[in-house]
Order: sequence, then structure tokens, then C-alpha cells
Amino acid sequence: MAHVTRSFLEPRPVRTSEPAAAAALFLVHAEDLAGAWESAVPSVLSEQEQTRAAQFHLRSDRDTYVAVHFALRLVLGRVLDLPSTAVPLVRHVCPICGAAHGRPGVAGDPVHFSLSHSGGTGLVAIASTPVGVDLEAPASDATVTLLSPRLHPAERAELSVLPESERRGAFARVWCRKEAYLKGIGTGLSRPLSSDYVGATELPSAPPGWQITDVALDTSHLAALAVQSPGPQSVTSTDVVYGGLLRSSPFGVVERARGWRGA
Ligand SMILES: CC(C)(COP(=O)(O)OP(=O)(O)OC[C@H]1O[C@@H](n2cnc3c(N)ncnc32)[C@H](O)[C@@H]1OP(=O)(O)O)[C@@H](O)C(=O)NCCC(=O)NCCS
Repeated sequence: MAHVTRSFLEPRPVRTSEPAAAAALFLVHAEDLAGAWESAVPSVLSEQEQTRAAQFHLRSDRDTYVAVHFALRLVLGRVLDLPSTAVPLVRHVCPICGAAHGRPGVAGDPVHFSLSHSGGTGLVAIASTPVGVDLEAPASDATVTLLSPRLHPAERAELSVLPESERRGAFARVWCRKEAYLKGIGTGLSRPLSSDYVGATELPSAPPGWQITDVALDTSHLAALAVQSPGPQSVTSTDVVYGGLLRSSPFGVVERARGWRGA
């Protein structure tokens, strides 16, 4: 049996700017699996996931991929009361072209999830409705200059009136929100970035039927969560989630996220 480092076993609080719709967030640090993944991977990940892991050129990218998918299977296994290896992961069809490269999911959709990884850190979101999560390292000035013109006109206007010193932060905010939403609806970035308004100001805005929440992490990353939800009435503070992956053993109990009302 693989051993994971102690920090992987401890809950890590994830703070949100406002209550999210019913969803659970789990923060994952690749370093927490260091030294354990070679033995952990075959026990939890599917052959397809192992093949994908082996294809990464950079060890750090591979470790992050493994840690996040490891966490995802553990969490879903707990939620669905299945062995982690038996969680039937599928790929939904792409809403744009109908091919099987849309939002990842669980067969039959008993629960929804989304994941994001960046530079050794990962986030897994679980919800009872379609969900998207995005995690980003701060954007460079060049990225802001390159991508800002592709945003929604109102977002471009909001960015343009900001002092230079605040623009990068605001861009990161709008980017995370947008990518979380586009993952939630399953198109990813193939839907034009100008189609939807999520806001570059402090309070996120969301397209009808969705809730978007900024997520404050204790790392240098920024994140946002988009949950399909009929309206603000379903957003209550008890739905804010605190990540806690494992309690006592690497393949043992996954703590159910506080307040989450899913399966
Ligand atoms: C999906 C996408 C937004 C991911 O963004 P990213 O910043 O590179 O990566 P993140 O770490 O935030 O997210 C990656 C995860 O998104 C998920 N994902 C992939 N495609 C997705 C989709 N269509 N919808 C929702 N989630 C998706 C996967 O779980 C992936 O992780 P995995 O490969 O380890 O399983 C981006 O790669 C994208 O838009 N790709 C374009 C897809 C495309 O053009 N498809 C053709 C349409 S016809």
C-alpha cells in the first residue's frame, strides 16, 4: 500500500468570496503525493489515466495530473459508495461539434465534477448539477494584452478603465470565471470568449441559470467555480465547502464535504 504524506491527509480550507451553490471543492497539492505515486497510481487510476500520465514530458506536470485524478477518484468513490477504481468516468459529447470530447463526467450523471490543474496545484469540484472550476497562475502582461481584446465588450470596458497596476489582477479574475463557466457548459475555450459576460469587477456576474464564485486559495493561484443553479435562492452559506480529502489512510475514508447536498 502506498503512503501519502501527512499533509495530504489534512483538510485544507478553501475560502470563497461568497457562498457557492451546492458544490464541494477539494484542493490538491502534487507534492503531497511525492514518493508515493508510483505505487498509488496502479491502485487507483485506470489504464487510460496511467497511459496519459506517462505521456507528460515534465515530471511536475505528470505528478500534478496524477495527484488530481487520484483525488478525483477517491472523492467520487466515496460519494458514490464505490471502489475508486470502479467509478465509471465518461466523456460527454461536445455541445459544439457532438464529438466525445466534452465535459468529463460519471456515467448516468449521478454527480457532476470538474477539475483544473496548474503548476503543482489542482482543484476538484463536485456538485449535484453541472459544474466547472478553473485554477490559474497569475497572467503575464503579454497574456493580458493578447487575450483582453477577445473578452466580452463589457468586460473589455471594465478592464480599460482600471489603472495599469490593477489590470492584471482583474484580467485573471475574469479569465478564471470565464473558463470555469465554459468548462461547466462543456464547450471549453472553443466557445468565443466574447459570448458571455462574467464581469471583471470584484463581484462576479453569471449567465442565466449559473452561479459563479471567486475562490480564494492559500497559494499563488486564482480560481473560480461555476455551478448550474436556477438562481440566487439556492445559494446559501451552508453550501460553502471546505476541502478534506482523506482521513486516515491513503485509500481510506474521504471526508464528505461540509454542507454539500449531493448524492
Ligand atoms: C478544456 C480547457 C478549457 C482546459 O483548460 P486548461 O486551462 O488547459 O486546463 P485545466 O487544468 O483548467 O482543465 C483541464 C481539465 O478540463 C477538463 N476538460 C477538458 N475538456 C473539457 C470540456 N470540454 N469541458 C469541461 N471540462 C473539460 C478535463 O478534466 C481536463 O483535465 P484532464 O485532462 O486532466 O482530465 C481547454 O483545454 C479547452 O478549451 N480546450 C479546447 C477544447 C476544444 O477546442 N475542443 C474542440 C471543440 S469542437
